[in-house]
Amino acid sequence: MQVAVEPGAMSPPTLNAVILAAGEGKRLGGSRPKVLTPLWGLPALAYPVAAALGVEPGRVLVVVGRHREAIATALSATLAADAGGGSGPGRLPAGACLDTAADLVTQDPPLGTGHAVLCAREALAGVSGTLLVINGDTPLVPSELLADLVAEHERKGAVVSVVSMHLEDPAGYGRMLRDAQGELQAITEAADASPEVLEITEVNAGVWALSLPEAWDLLTGLGRDNSQGEVYLTDLVAAARAADRPVGSLVWGDPEDLLGFNDHLDLALARAVLRERILAGHLARGVELVDPETTYIDATVDIAPGARVLPCTMIEGRSRIGAGCEAGPFAHLRDGTVLEPGAEIGNFTETKQTTVGAGSKAKHLTYLGDTVIGAGTNIGAGTITANYDGKHKHRTTIGDGAFIGSGTVIVAPAEVADGGVTGAGAVVRRHSRVGSHETWVGVPARRLRKAGDRDPQARDGGDGDA
Ligand code: UD1
Ligand code: CA
Repeated sequence: MQVAVEPGAMSPPTLNAVILAAGEGKRLGGSRPKVLTPLWGLPALAYPVAAALGVEPGRVLVVVGRHREAIATALSATLAADAGGGSGPGRLPAGACLDTAADLVTQDPPLGTGHAVLCAREALAGVSGTLLVINGDTPLVPSELLADLVAEHERKGAVVSVVSMHLEDPAGYGRMLRDAQGELQAITEAADASPEVLEITEVNAGVWALSLPEAWDLLTGLGRDNSQGEVYLTDLVAAARAADRPVGSLVWGDPEDLLGFNDHLDLALARAVLRERILAGHLARGVELVDPETTYIDATVDIAPGARVLPCTMIEGRSRIGAGCEAGPFAHLRDGTVLEPGAEIGNFTETKQTTVGAGSKAKHLTYLGDTVIGAGTNIGAGTITANYDGKHKHRTTIGDGAFIGSGTVIVAPAEVADGGVTGAGAVVRRHSRVGSHETWVGVPARRLRKAGDRDPQARDGGDGDA
């Protein structure tokens, strides 16, 4: 039965999310905003955005600072390209793109995490219900954690709830202060903590649920009287206690899910955990990874079940590997590599922006860039597509059933038509076209003359062997 609803009469969504990404990330060095640090083919920020989208909030707002333009560009490029891109970490649900996925809110200058949340107030005017707040530097946070937090927060009727974890080495994290009954009283930042408080190993993970609109008033009341002169979101706990409002907490058993990254050591750890998750996802879907220990696959790569990845292989960017394909050992498949079913890329072969057609093979010591190869073609050992003239990239096209001899250099743009053959060591000059079923040999390569051939350009190749 259809029910007519007056415009505006629908109740607004009761769950929204804010991701904090305006901090400077000084401890990593460099000029790139921390949240754009590349993690397996995606900017770090894409991961919490994807996790938030997993709990189907009405909106996801991202608080950004002076790097707004860079973040907007990176997010729209990666998230739009990723829409419907699969189910691994960092991948967006089908159909999502930046416009529907995330809106940017500006915080400039960054005056602390509490101030960052307040910057989203205007964008959320009139909204009530639960607001998830996620530190932008927690790329491993899973949607299940967010769902559990929201459930616990709403069950308790809390005004603020926060996720914590127990760490052997809690250095740098905010410490959870509980009373004798185990109720959370306050969070103290490491920078402001006494030696006794620093002994506490239960820490704030940086993932929150707030109740709107109530939390806005508490946030507005927070001061900056602390060692960093910032408005700490963590002070919301003590503020809620002082106002006699319930505070919730969720102790999360797996600290790996909440690794933040402030320095290069944290970053390496986060990369390692994410890498394991990406590989585990492929294994679970039926991809054969012969040696996961030496296999590196970006979150953005799609691999069909039944494909095989041999040791010491790296597959990057928006690459797609079809059923029955083989990659490696020692292969480097870069962004834009497409292996159609049954194609094989072998030892010391690098591909970039290249499609290898069904059943075609490039098994040894080869570079293929900006190249399209048809089906059933063999690329001999040591083949190079010279795609870059120092200023521009150029394309190489190789047809079906072609045979590229060992050590061929194809200077792009150039073409080898269906059934075309090049001899060992041939240098195919730019703008050349090796015609269908022709054989070209030599340096520079010319068409091999066959018996009865009158083409003065063609070489005398005797019996036709190159
Ligand atoms: C924060 C918590 C700390 C917790 C830790 C977990 C506060 C005050 N401290 O500390 O208790 O243990 O996370 O990882 O919340 N950001 C802004 N605007 C700002 C400042 C920060 O958007 O003005 C963003 C950052 O980009 C970052 C996140 O908020 O994504 C956390 O900021 P960060 O400076 O990394 O806080 P921590 O010192 O790690
Ligand atoms: Ca941090």
